[in-house]
Amino acid sequence: MSADRDTTGGLRWHLRAFWQRRRWQFTSALIADWLKTTRPASSHLLLIGGSAGWMMSSTWLQRFRKIDLIDVDPHASWLFRLNHGRALRASDSHLQFFQTDGLKALDHLLRESPEATIFFDNVLGQHLYRVGDMARAESELQQIAARLKGRDWGSVHDLYSGPVDSNRAVAQPVSRYDALNDAQGLLVNGLRETPMHRLLLSQVGGHDEWMDHLTSGIFPIGTASQLIAWPFLPNYAHWLQAGWVAGSGSSSG
Ligand SMILES: C[S@@+](CC[C@H](N)C(=O)[O-])C[C@H]1O[C@@H](n2cnc3c(N)ncnc32)[C@H](O)[C@@H]1O
Repeated sequence: MSADRDTTGGLRWHLRAFWQRRRWQFTSALIADWLKTTRPASSHLLLIGGSAGWMMSSTWLQRFRKIDLIDVDPHASWLFRLNHGRALRASDSHLQFFQTDGLKALDHLLRESPEATIFFDNVLGQHLYRVGDMARAESELQQIAARLKGRDWGSVHDLYSGPVDSNRAVAQPVSRYDALNDAQGLLVNGLRETPMHRLLLSQVGGHDEWMDHLTSGIFPIGTASQLIAWPFLPNYAHWLQAGWVAGSGSSSG
């Protein structure tokens, strides 16, 4: 088994997020719009992979009284406060930082906070890079929903990423996608070679050799999700999937 590596965050992420913030603005706005539609059951949030919250909505965070920011990156805490501290003070939301591996510690975190809502903030799509082993990454990602059974949780994560023709504009930046309508395509077999995959590629002007982040089986079948284009670099784009799973005690999700 390969040792886990910190390849997806750290200073490189912060510098990139800072320099690309204008390019990423519309993606962050679409994430914020989607977050507005969620109905977290708890006022306590476990925010896993929150980093400095470069793409996170302060307004959404303000609905929580207590936020546990969980990230392996030691710089996450002060940078998150820089980006969201003022808003959190205004809403009297209490932020605590835990520098730990949120997937390894997940069972412990769930036991410690049995009432909390969990949000994976653009972290599950990088699990493959972190563990460096496809089979292990896929199997661990597919077990997440079972580990969270009965809990109120959501995730935004990479589905696919790859090179794009920088001259092509994003024709339709967001694709609303109800997984109930295509359980065989997105959630069961993954996207590759499905009509949805071709549609996504054409929407962001992508070439064929896109990377599969092994996340298409994360949500339980039937979970409604939204796909959001992310123009990561001028010549490289991601499709993010955002979805919410209402806990057994929630009335909606
Ligand atoms: C792509 S960044 C997402 C950043 C954040 N959502 C934002 O808007 O700035 C992924 C973050 O997840 C963190 N991370 C990766 N694997 C993790 C794990 N297993 N547990 C906790 N944090 C993790 C990285 O350190 C990094 O900060």
